[in-house]
Amino acid sequence: MTVAIGTDIARAASLIREGGLVAFATETVYGLGANAYDVRAVGRIFEAKDRPTFDPLIVHVGNRAWVESVAATVTPLAQRLIDAFWPGPLTLVLPKTDRIPDLATAGLPTVGVRMPSHPSAVELLRQANIPIAAPSANRFGHVSPTRAEHVAEQLGDRIDYILDGGPCTVGVESTILDVTGAEAVLLRPGGLPLEAIEAQIGPVRLIEAMSAANEPQPSPGRLLRHYATRTALVIADAEESPPSIARVGLLTLAAKSDDEHYAAIETLSPAGDLAEAAANLFAAMRRLDARGLDLIVVRFVPEVGLGRAINDRLRRAAHRTTAFPPSPRAPGEDRG
Ligand code: TXA
Ligand code: MG
Repeated sequence: MTVAIGTDIARAASLIREGGLVAFATETVYGLGANAYDVRAVGRIFEAKDRPTFDPLIVHVGNRAWVESVAATVTPLAQRLIDAFWPGPLTLVLPKTDRIPDLATAGLPTVGVRMPSHPSAVELLRQANIPIAAPSANRFGHVSPTRAEHVAEQLGDRIDYILDGGPCTVGVESTILDVTGAEAVLLRPGGLPLEAIEAQIGPVRLIEAMSAANEPQPSPGRLLRHYATRTALVIADAEESPPSIARVGLLTLAAKSDDEHYAAIETLSPAGDLAEAAANLFAAMRRLDARGLDLIVVRFVPEVGLGRAINDRLRRAAHRTTAFPPSPRAPGEDRG
């Protein structure tokens, strides 16, 4: 872990312009950024994350006008969403321009574009003055980073700089919508609640949950198994009889009076505020993972608003050890 961590935006911007790798804060999670026009810089992202090249990256733009350099067509539906929700935690999948290398989009004719709202990301984009390709700044398949230290732990020896923008306020990744057609399709629930989107554009189509990993996927970059902790992680079942093995941790919105038998408890929001819970989610998972427990039990939160994104991440974190939990409106999966 040798990488410099700091708040020097000018240094971060020139590193990006020179083809370097810079992790930076966004309102959702930290991203691992590189010049989106530079195929070698984009290649370094995949290497640093151990990310398979079939998993496309999101391209970040500094203002609404830049979208035309990245996306070949901005559909009327996309424009409405841009006007309503950018900057913010919404990624739009649109046909790509030739300026974006095929490697960045995993060979797809489309590209995911997003305009972040975090002030240091906005200023980094302004000073770099080029779109920045950035997946979440974690090793492939692991828990996403919401603090500069999380990035240093996983990627510290592989990247050029970490632009510290403090803890991420949203805490889960952006909502991803495919808007290449007339109808919006939800590819990943995320930091912008589905309800807010539907209030703006009407019903959004949900892709059914993926059958099994490693089968051909209707959309790439989606995998059940993701957000892996080292400690085995299971979804609490209805009765939740405590497993008899030694040390079990609990991840829950709010603790109940009879939860004392857990060796460690992380509460995401005792007041039941799902935005607060999302902001705490990944850091709480990491803290439990660092406790050397035998098992982590997680309880679903209400499947509304940001609760959809939280439950989606919990389902995928648990996939190794449990059956895929049924969900009435289970959306698609992503990875990376
Ligand atoms: O909030 C976020 O979205 C964060 C911050 C850094 O912006 N980024 C992020 O990137 O979560 P990542 O790489 O962890 O997730 C990107 C996912 C891919 O795995 C894929 O599911 C989807 O975005 N994606 C990207 N381009 C796509 C495309 N052309 N078509 C379909 N899905 C795409
Ligand atoms: Mg990711």
